[in-house]
Amino acid sequence: MKSICVLPGDGIGPEVIDSAVKVLEKATDQLEFVHADIGGAAYAKHRSYLPDETFDLMKTCDSCLFGAVTSPDGPDQGSPVLRFRKELDLYANVRPVRTLVEVPNRPSIDLVLIRENSEGMYTQDEVFDDGGVTTRRRVTRRASERIVRFAIEYAKLNGRQKITCVHKSNVLRASDGLFLSVFREAMNSKGAGLKSEEQLVDSAAMKLVVEPRVFDVIVTLNLYGDILSDVAAGVAGGLGFAPSGNIGPKHSVFEPAHGSAPDIAGKGVANPTAAILAGAMMLKHLGLTRPASNVEKAVADVYSTGHLTVDIGGRHGSRSFTDHVIGVLEGGKRQ
Ligand code: NAI
Ligand code: MG
Repeated sequence: MKSICVLPGDGIGPEVIDSAVKVLEKATDQLEFVHADIGGAAYAKHRSYLPDETFDLMKTCDSCLFGAVTSPDGPDQGSPVLRFRKELDLYANVRPVRTLVEVPNRPSIDLVLIRENSEGMYTQDEVFDDGGVTTRRRVTRRASERIVRFAIEYAKLNGRQKITCVHKSNVLRASDGLFLSVFREAMNSKGAGLKSEEQLVDSAAMKLVVEPRVFDVIVTLNLYGDILSDVAAGVAGGLGFAPSGNIGPKHSVFEPAHGSAPDIAGKGVANPTAAILAGAMMLKHLGLTRPASNVEKAVADVYSTGHLTVDIGGRHGSRSFTDHVIGVLEGGKRQ
């Protein structure tokens, strides 16, 4: 048995995580779930967005499934997401984006974005002075090597052919220049059999929208990865389609790439696909490859038989979409 710490969070987090847990329970009997508070609900109870009890559970479970939180406002409250990514050493953020259903006027896409998750613009090192604020952005050789090697391993294990390094070294010559040179070195020494490409982040953003099939695996720095993964998700149909995994040497947290979506929370229309596919990524990470691919196939099957979610013009809300996925897992029961 594998223990899973379930962190529903705020807004649509609880809705989409409820769907994901139901699907995972149908896909395998190898998981046991423990629920914990994070975000606004945790703050109301414990005066902390990431209480110690929650953090301890995240560390002792085999993996975590997280919804989303509404970011606390005010500079005194740090983000619980950035805190667990940092303290659990979740240095790799993996975001596969794939077209599941054709969306009018959008090209088809099938790529995996691998984002450095521990430094870059997310060090939250901001210093106020009379004239404004200075933000220090850190890029180290160690973190760059770790993420590039992770991307190479990932590409090989998952049958991917090409890695594109996305950067802005024409402006950020020292920092992005270091990331790029680490990429070149690692591809030379460990990237045998993989095609290597380099792309400036601005033109990569354009190509993602116009011609996304030129990408296979993207490896990039923290902020670029955050922005580009939402762009890629938009091409595939919206944020409801992009799962993600935060992976470190010991711990892992899987989550949909989207936030708490307060504009649609409580309406029953959130697309649970990203959360369900994040659950499938978690199964794969835990070595449960057969149920993982069953879940992925079931989701693809529901879309291909014309059952579309509200965000892409269909009629299915979270619950009825989830019921269809469960129906397929139960053995082809469909309406
Ligand atoms: P968001 O990702 O929550 O929503 C952006 C847009 O996409 C909204 O129009 C929303 O309705 C739509 N959307 C998102 N997920 C969807 C789904 N599953 N189905 C259908 N439509 C979906 O980003 P936003 O609005 O910028 O942020 C809301 C809050 O979430 C903020 O407090 C933000 O800081 C936080 N956030 C939290 C994250 C996390 O917990 N990992 C990640 C990103 C944002
Ligand atoms: Mg984001």
